[in-house]
Amino acid sequence: MPNDEKIRAIVVTISDTPRNEAEDVSGATLVDLLIDMNAEIVDKIFVTDDFENLRQTLYVLTERSDANLILTTGGTGFAPRDNTPEATRAVIERETQGLAEAMRLETLKKTPMAMLSRGVCGIRGKCLIVNLPGSPKAVRECFEVIKPVLPHAINLISGNTNHNE
Ligand code: MTE
Repeated sequence: MPNDEKIRAIVVTISDTPRNEAEDVSGATLVDLLIDMNAEIVDKIFVTDDFENLRQTLYVLTERSDANLILTTGGTGFAPRDNTPEATRAVIERETQGLAEAMRLETLKKTPMAMLSRGVCGIRGKCLIVNLPGSPKAVRECFEVIKPVLPHAINLISGNTNHNE
């Protein structure tokens, strides 16, 4: 597709369990999936589940001009410290329900556990935030669902409103 806006992604692993690079299998899985679709990884970070820290971190990341996609993994469940959806909602200006709905609906065909993710997706400025669950398996399953629409989504957010189909 001509004039596609390059996907420039930041991968954010959200967990209270301190992880080093080698232990961050979900983050590494996301990086591989993104590279596979020719996206650029501009950063990869770890954040704890602390709401305020998470909100601030996501806000600052959306301010960066070198990124147009933030993919988070973890903190979307029902546990008391699962704050990712709330922190994301506090930062986004426009919710993109279709992405979150599609991931839950499609992956529900593989596992009923899909119902346990409260992940949300939305746009702030020229940046899309997508919450994915924490396990590498869930990351792969959910990413496959949104992968086909990500290039067009990023094009639209960047202001390129040509229709692809
Ligand atoms: N979604 C898919 N597609 N596949 C999965 O295995 N695991 C679920 C759910 N979503 C799962 C999934 C489980 S077990 C939980 S607890 C929630 O995501 C929340 O996970 P998180 O708190 O690590 O984000």
